[in-house]
Amino acid sequence: EQYFSRSSDLVGLDIVITAGPTQEAIDPVRYISNHSSGKMGFAIARAFAQRGANVTLISGPVNLPTPSKVNRINVLSAQQMWQIALESAVKNHIFIACAAVADYRVADIAEQKIKKSTNEMQLTLVKNPDIVSDVGHLTENRPFTVGFAAETQQVEQYAQDKLLRKKLDMICANDVSNGQVFGAEQNALKLFWQNGSEQLPETSKQQLAQQLVNKIVERYHAKEH
Ligand code: CTP
Ligand code: CA
Repeated sequence: EQYFSRSSDLVGLDIVITAGPTQEAIDPVRYISNHSSGKMGFAIARAFAQRGANVTLISGPVNLPTPSKVNRINVLSAQQMWQIALESAVKNHIFIACAAVADYRVADIAEQKIKKSTNEMQLTLVKNPDIVSDVGHLTENRPFTVGFAAETQQVEQYAQDKLLRKKLDMICANDVSNGQVFGAEQNALKLFWQNGSEQLPETSKQQLAQQLVNKIVERYHAKEH
């Protein structure tokens, strides 16, 4: 009975998750990106799918297999991720932003490979759209919105600021001051919502994902349903 309920108690719940880094082209052969492995987002996708939820995983370029029964959409740039994410967000109950979206993109992508000439060269960068903030600020068909915050200092303060600024229902704060979260197998998270918080102690990303799913579902139901 335990097994049965575990494998199907979230049937009918529609979840969309962004994961991995984005890749911002400089020219046809070069790009700007970051070290996100996508593991946490994929673990959350798998944990939801294992309980019967309908999961859409919008993934940047990562080297991970698609979890069973998850609908995966691959993207490269932040702008591509933004477009698919906003389209999906309004059709789902819960939106979870795990992706390490590049904050900036190159203003003018060179059509041809840039040749080496001067000793110094400059790239002009422009800010990318903030995907989770745009979802959080939706006025129609807004899903329950969950963000992450990777911080190297003042973790609680910055996480709480992001919760408010991006209009999130929940934020999961990650202390990356030791530089070991990217690609690591273990992680710890501190969760914040409007009027509460909870610490999830360090464990495997898969275990953490299962605990996080419990917490997200609990807060989702506490909010309006
Ligand atoms: N995020 C997003 N779109 C962006 C930037 C961030 O959806 N263009 C989301 C991330 O997926 C994460 C949350 O916003 O859920 C916080 O990301 P983070 O990089 O910590 O915050 P920023 O607002 O980009 O602020 P900063 O990098 O300056 O700390
Ligand atoms: Ca950022």
